[in-house]
Amino acid sequence: MHTFIKTNELLEREIKVSPLAAQTYSKSYRYFCKGVAPSYMDHGEGCYIYDVDGNKFIDFMCALGPITIGYNDPDVNAAVIRQVNKFASGSLQSELEVELAEKLCDIIPCAEMVRFVKNGGDATTAAVRLARAYTGRDVILMSGYHGMHDWSIGASANNKGVPQSVCDLTVNFIYNDLLDLENKLQNNSVAAVILEPIQSDGPKEGYLEGVKELAHKYGAILIFDEVVSGFHYALGGAQEVFGVSPDLVAFGKGMANGYPISAVAGRRDLLEQIEHGVFVSTTFGGDSISMAASLATIKQLEQPGFYEHINKIGTIMRDGIRERIEKYNLGETLSVSGMPAHCGVSFEGHGSLSYLDIQSVYSQTMIQNGILVFAIYFLNKNHTEKEAYDYLDATDKAFALIRQAIDEDSVDGILLGGKVDPVFKRNIK
Ligand SMILES: Cc1ncc(COP(=O)(O)O)c(C=O)c1O
Repeated sequence: MHTFIKTNELLEREIKVSPLAAQTYSKSYRYFCKGVAPSYMDHGEGCYIYDVDGNKFIDFMCALGPITIGYNDPDVNAAVIRQVNKFASGSLQSELEVELAEKLCDIIPCAEMVRFVKNGGDATTAAVRLARAYTGRDVILMSGYHGMHDWSIGASANNKGVPQSVCDLTVNFIYNDLLDLENKLQNNSVAAVILEPIQSDGPKEGYLEGVKELAHKYGAILIFDEVVSGFHYALGGAQEVFGVSPDLVAFGKGMANGYPISAVAGRRDLLEQIEHGVFVSTTFGGDSISMAASLATIKQLEQPGFYEHINKIGTIMRDGIRERIEKYNLGETLSVSGMPAHCGVSFEGHGSLSYLDIQSVYSQTMIQNGILVFAIYFLNKNHTEKEAYDYLDATDKAFALIRQAIDEDSVDGILLGGKVDPVFKRNIK
């Protein structure tokens, strides 16, 4: 049985001085069962993490996507330490910047040039600005999550604090629905169509080709947000998997095994606008530590068999979730969505239980069984069949308890701590 004494002490202290006691929403205690889940990590090793109370978990969160190789990887560490002993951010560029830019132009199909920033949202925002400057238009059509900046969060349900005039310039379109996209392209003067190319089970046959054709027909720039899909499904991202190249792409998360770096890449004529008055510049954009980490990470991602391994492990997990949903007859409450490399469980309410009651039973049980996961899993190089089957054993126990909760129409006696209580909740049950 895990105990969380130190986690809970630290939480009590941090809540007083930092909102949500975490710097990323979905890493906050609010997204787990309070009191019976870890919040603070001591160290990681491969695909395992150790919390401040000495508990060990198999980590299927992978820091929400960045950990593609594994924690404490000797090659990434060595590259980082080599550079730490030289400089981090300097008054001049590091040679690594040239190497990494060349490498990305080599491996990303649409990349003729690349500009480095820090967060995924910086990269999507840079891409949107380049598209607006190029087209002389303002409206953005988006599908997916693209970061915290006004142009994108303004078009979400969580747009408090964003001026209405900014919200009005971004319109959501429905993924995998070309008619909806064309309708919105007809009715707006669109600078860019930006989307996460892989959502839920992925694009329908011909969908991404259709998006590209429509965007160009209406004079808009096509941007793929590959902040999640990049480096997780294939080295060149979804554009490599599906053979459709956008005009611009944003990468982040998985490119440096946890070190902060992101990039906007794409057509030369679009990127070159940065030399002619389109402002994309950050103090830490050239941070050489992350570049050293990224080069060492990509070197491993390039090894033959890397993505075959990830897909094999992911397929075992995805198939196993499906089997267990059937085994416990939970098809009305649980569904599995995603492609093998990044996939997981979605929750619906049942009877008097809300989707958060059901999710809480899942989350608590996974933690009790040594699995750290945020409904949808990420994988890294170190996950093997052993960890996949450990995940499925825990999943089996979680689903059995969900079945029990539904049959009893209650989580009393099942939940031992708080419930999952996200800041942003769905409207539906
Ligand atoms: C698809 C996608 N784009 C952009 C972002 C924003 O990235 P960041 O949080 O690094 O700014 C995220 C973050 O989760 C994301 O999932």
